[in-house]
Amino acid sequence: MFSQRHLHFLFQLLLVHPLLSPSAAAAAGKVSAIIVFGDSTVDSGNNDYILTIAKGDFPPYGRDFDGGIATGRFSNGRLVTDFISEAFGLPSSVPAYLDPSCTIDQLAMGVSFASGGTGLDDLTADISNVIHVRQQLEYFKEYKERLTVSKGESNANKIIADALYYFSIGNNDIGVNYFLLPQRRSQFSPPEYVALLTDIAGAAVREVYQLGGRRIQLTGILPVGCVPAMRTVNLHQPGQCMEEFNQFALLFNAELQKTASKLNSELTGATVVYSDMYSLVSSIIANPLKYGFENVAQGCCGTGIIEALFLCGLEEPLTCEDTDKYVFFDSVHPTERIYKMEASEMLNTSLAVFL
Ligand SMILES: *[C@@H]1O[C@H](CO)[C@@H](O)[C@H](O)[C@H]1NC(C)=O
Repeated sequence: MFSQRHLHFLFQLLLVHPLLSPSAAAAAGKVSAIIVFGDSTVDSGNNDYILTIAKGDFPPYGRDFDGGIATGRFSNGRLVTDFISEAFGLPSSVPAYLDPSCTIDQLAMGVSFASGGTGLDDLTADISNVIHVRQQLEYFKEYKERLTVSKGESNANKIIADALYYFSIGNNDIGVNYFLLPQRRSQFSPPEYVALLTDIAGAAVREVYQLGGRRIQLTGILPVGCVPAMRTVNLHQPGQCMEEFNQFALLFNAELQKTASKLNSELTGATVVYSDMYSLVSSIIANPLKYGFENVAQGCCGTGIIEALFLCGLEEPLTCEDTDKYVFFDSVHPTERIYKMEASEMLNTSLAVFL
């Protein structure tokens, strides 16, 4: 029989020892696929197949992508999730779910349901007529069914359980919806809106968990007050970051981090991590030369002041020469080099538990 002391020791071991905790058990083992939900930071081309003006399927988008193809990614090359996929020994780019040329065998190793312009708040998605979070989750259910038909139930369940679920969303709720439209401003203070948004994020994670997901990342948002488009419309301090919106972003990130940690303890057998996208970009903007950047205030595309989306397509000759010296490719979206650095930082920190 165990003595009281033995029991106490066993109890401590089970509860405290990180290698034996249920979270760590879920995290151990190879990631089978990377399954992505979110906005333009992780949309690998879904918007190409819907009716919206929020598209990146024409030059100069994709000019540094393999073959120089404008896939619909809102950058000059690959996105953070593409680099992460590669680091997990999976394909070097994550396909878009709506791309009809993708087979289920390809999608079984990674898929993005993300949609540029979308947000946690449905109203945000409605502004650009893009894919709601709810619809992204519906696509995930459909995906799981297709996987089951193609691979059999037990293989499909294993892929679902061993996949990394990557959420990157919220940038447009704050940087577009709350910033541009009067409605949410009149209804909610920033802390109230942040609470509403992170509740929606939490509900989405619970749904993924119900469907079998066990390794989940919630990604924070960028310093949205520093994107070139925001600087351009900063009437009080022209050309400067809008600090009010950076503070808002920090508030959202802090609350999202709390949500991740709450879900991590609540969802038995799951590992839920928070990954930061703010600090590194913010440090680069404050100290570009240290990181080998030259331009942090303008997008590479066009004049760099307002050009984004279709406006980028109009002024191709004005596109910058060396994208790696720029933080932003257009007036709102980071360059491939930024995404690569963010991926590297995440793999060194929050994602290390899954490697
Ligand atoms: C991640 O770690 C590697 C190896 O230690 C290092 O070279 C790299 O700079 C780190 N990345 C970041 C963004 O800190």
